[in-house]
Amino acid sequence: MNLAGVSEVQKMYYAHCSQCHQEDGQGTGGRFPTLVGTDWVLGDETRLITVLLQGLEGTIEINGEPFTGFMPQHSYLKKIKKFQIF
Ligand code: HEC
Repeated sequence: MNLAGVSEVQKMYYAHCSQCHQEDGQGTGGRFPTLVGTDWVLGDETRLITVLLQGLEGTIEINGEPFTGFMPQHSYLKKIKKFQIF
């Protein structure tokens, strides 16, 4: 992948999220949910950050549809200061 012109946050996404949610954030249908325009991404920021730092498992609702899966926690992202998103 050519990372020229890609922002730090996008690099963070490629490194830590895209293996599951895919490079375009669309997910894989059954196993990993989309991130595009979901109420988790666009909704309450505290809830979103909690998902990233603590992970998420069990059945959740994404834009009105039930989804059951397991996302590992990413608490180590707190230590990556240059991203300054937490
Ligand atoms: C190992 C695979 C995996 C990785 C890596 C991963 N996720 Fe997830 N993510 C999931 C799964 C599976 C769910 C659904 C969890 C559930 O069903 O309770 C989820 C749910 C979510 C949700 C809430 C639901 C939605 O679709 O909006 C958000 C937001 C999210 N992930 C963001 C991220 C971000 C940002 C990263 C990178 C820091 C990331 N995830 C890394 C697998 C992953």
